[in-house]
Amino acid sequence: MQLSSDQIRSRYLEFFKKRGHAIIPSAPLVPENDPTTLFNTAGMQPLVPFLLGVKHPQGERIVDCQKCVRTGDIDDIGDNRHLTFFEMLGNWSLGDYFKNEAINWSFEFLTSKKEELGEQGLGLDPKRLYVTVFKGEDGIPRDNESIEIWKKVLTDAGLKAEVASDDEVVKDDVRIIPLGVNDNFWIAGATGPCGGDTEMFYDTRPEEGKLEGKFGDLVDSFRLIEVWNDVFMEFNKTTEGKYQVLAKKNVDTGMGLERTTVVVNGKQNVFETDCFEPILNKIKSAAKSTNEKSERIVADHMRTATFMIADGVVPSNTDRGYILRRIIRRAVRHADVLGLSETTLSDLINIVVQKFESIYPNLAEKQDQIKEELQKEEKKFRETLSRGMKEFEKLSSTNISGTDAFTLFSSYGFPLEVILELAKEKVISVDVGSFDHEMKKHQELSRASAEKKFKGGLGDTSEKSVQYHTATHLLNAALRQVLGTHVMQKGSNITPERLRFDFSHGEKMTDEQKKQVESLVNCWIQTKLPVELKELPKIEAEKVAIHSFNEKYADIVKVYSIGTEGNYISREFCGGPHVKNTSELAGNSEQAPQHFKIQKEEAVSAGVRRIKAVLE
Ligand code: ALA
Repeated sequence: MQLSSDQIRSRYLEFFKKRGHAIIPSAPLVPENDPTTLFNTAGMQPLVPFLLGVKHPQGERIVDCQKCVRTGDIDDIGDNRHLTFFEMLGNWSLGDYFKNEAINWSFEFLTSKKEELGEQGLGLDPKRLYVTVFKGEDGIPRDNESIEIWKKVLTDAGLKAEVASDDEVVKDDVRIIPLGVNDNFWIAGATGPCGGDTEMFYDTRPEEGKLEGKFGDLVDSFRLIEVWNDVFMEFNKTTEGKYQVLAKKNVDTGMGLERTTVVVNGKQNVFETDCFEPILNKIKSAAKSTNEKSERIVADHMRTATFMIADGVVPSNTDRGYILRRIIRRAVRHADVLGLSETTLSDLINIVVQKFESIYPNLAEKQDQIKEELQKEEKKFRETLSRGMKEFEKLSSTNISGTDAFTLFSSYGFPLEVILELAKEKVISVDVGSFDHEMKKHQELSRASAEKKFKGGLGDTSEKSVQYHTATHLLNAALRQVLGTHVMQKGSNITPERLRFDFSHGEKMTDEQKKQVESLVNCWIQTKLPVELKELPKIEAEKVAIHSFNEKYADIVKVYSIGTEGNYISREFCGGPHVKNTSELAGNSEQAPQHFKIQKEEAVSAGVRRIKAVLE
């Protein structure tokens, strides 16, 4: 059967809708209320609160197609399997059905051809399907239940279904392969909802004869390709490494859309599918030379950059912004390898938008902005690229030292993977260990200077730090209301995890006082007060605003006011940055808004107290 990725996506959503699942739209690539994760890397990530027991407004059966980014494999792009951006189809049971339905539906969707009944599956050949299950490890028992369900499903389909022994070898009638935690236990990161899983693989080259050999080798040689993973979430792994049994068992499944398109259409790799066809056609027609790897890198990275910018990421030197920067710069370098003209990358954005706008409407809405950000970044990198390439040519007569690699990074804007890639082409090595060392030295220096610059200790300007900075002003105002106007700020230090605030006050705060302060701050967050910046002559400012440090101020000072004219709850001399409205301190998730909470109140010196507080 030949099916486009659009057809596969809509068949999947429809199949599960018919089985009582509510179709929900993809969450943005950037997690909405989770500063620990840069991008959603799996369909389950935006659903974590619901997998842990929060009631989902759409019910207990959910299906979607989630945008995902995984950049751990950035260096592997250009091989047959790895993409930085992909779409993941998933169906969820939130405390509803479990292994039996999940496995039966998976098999049915993969193999069904019942088009005449309006039942549209993928029509894959059941004889080419192999499955893995959790063999039991780390004190968690073997998943005999899934083994029995698979045996029934496969024998009902007329197949013999033997279970592989511990040697993990596929031979004779073996179709079910039990594997350990590394293969068949699923968790996103270190903690959170998790459980054993069963994965489905398809034999992509039956013409090579009977499938035989160690399971892992068959996967490594791409003869078997994973198409779907059904995770049976029974535990929540805590920060102490304990597996707590969840009150309700869930099913989390994940099917990579691009890879499934490969398998269904009998293609060799994702770049041969319609997911990439229009964009690769454009690259090939605009290129002056042919280079398959560069074509694939440009195609993959431009898809990813387009989706990232549409979801609010802009190139920068930290976190998400830096990942985007690396992706764009690597694309620019490979565009040069192909001899693409400077406008081609932004033309590619049009093609990506056109391909996906019906599914993800924000692409078309943000099209101009996406192009603008790309062009800005491309221009910035190009300003140093040719000088950097000359420098690289000079350096690359021998292996590249950490210091030289760092110069390419810091003076010419070459991301490390670009340096490594160039070195590989020249068959020379890069001293990555001492590059890392240089990098750390540099980061320490710049952190120290940032701390000097922001006297309050605002070391970075991530979203969370900015929220904490505004929270500090609210805390200061609340303390002055509850304890009295003798309270003066004595110091402050902010990280993306918490705020720390030192203030003048003679005695330990009572529990009642702490509660009052928390309630006031939370009330100001809930009442959505505007935060306003004004530049005032110092003399004027001193009449209306508090200033805490014994600093020399310029004649014109910045004053941040929270509240409305005549009704300010806080006015302080401050350089910023701050949120625009206190409601931002509640975070982005309506289901789980952040609250201000005092974690600790203690003495730091005579007459000075310290509060540590979080928004959580
Ligand atoms: N969460 C599972 C995965 O990403 C389904 O493979």
